Amino acid sequence: MDDKSIGITVQQTENSFWLADFFGIIEGMKINLNKKIIVANWKMNPLSKPSALALYQGLLEKAKGQKSLTIVCPPAVWLGFLTGSRPTNLYLGGQNCSEIKEGAVTGEISAWQLASVGVDFCLVGHSETRRRGEDDLLINQKVKTLLKAGLMVLFCIGEKERDREGKYLEEIKKQLSIGLKGVSKKDISRVIICYEPLFAIGGKRADTPEEFTHSSLFIKKTIGQLYKAKIGQEAKVLYGGSVNKNNAEDFLIAGADGLLVGRESLKSSAFGQIIAKAGKYS
Ligand code: PGA
Repeated sequence: MDDKSIGITVQQTENSFWLADFFGIIEGMKINLNKKIIVANWKMNPLSKPSALALYQGLLEKAKGQKSLTIVCPPAVWLGFLTGSRPTNLYLGGQNCSEIKEGAVTGEISAWQLASVGVDFCLVGHSETRRRGEDDLLINQKVKTLLKAGLMVLFCIGEKERDREGKYLEEIKKQLSIGLKGVSKKDISRVIICYEPLFAIGGKRADTPEEFTHSSLFIKKTIGQLYKAKIGQEAKVLYGGSVNKNNAEDFLIAGADGLLVGRESLKSSAFGQIIAKAGKYS
């Protein structure tokens, strides 16, 4: 796939120079987003540092040599400990960030702080943070802040319920159009859409691959309308919600550009099987 790779060149920001200085990261580093992208969302797990290090080590082993791209999103408190070399196909992600760069914002994490500990991606707009009061406008500010800090955005969207009349598509459209407001044509290539219908999160039941295909096409069409058709076609849309080692491949076959995995990412053996399956389609 490499010849078809569009790759993403991380912009030369004040921040990335800083990274280059401190971490020896090469300027103009390319991350090939044309591989299947598997995101491990640990949420607020595990509870101890030894467990976090052991889980990370397990995932590193599984990712090694696989063709897919793995992004591990641990709780921020563990990020600074996940140091040392890692496979070139494995990246770190944050789970959320402040919309504000720095200053008197107690309890929050700056996108620039994430970048300074080697993080390249960050989730934003996850339903569990929306549920605690984030609205589309705040999420939009966070998306733009992350882009400014030179990170790539894992922008989560998804409807609460699915009605037969198709009103849920309006909700998806609203989340996209407000969440991406002011994001330039250039920057949109650093935004990955993570589509997670809320009813599918947390083990009740996954969506069906057929429904995912339908929603994914709608998302691409909407992005096409917001930008231009080609940008919509090239947009990356991941599926999330009760992904496990048994259903992962079905969503990849249904056209998912990757998967956002919660509980199953806490088991390195099961998660390893998911990234290996994704490798087949990368
Ligand atoms: P789940 O979580 O895989 O445990 O359903 C997914 C998510 O919330 O990102």
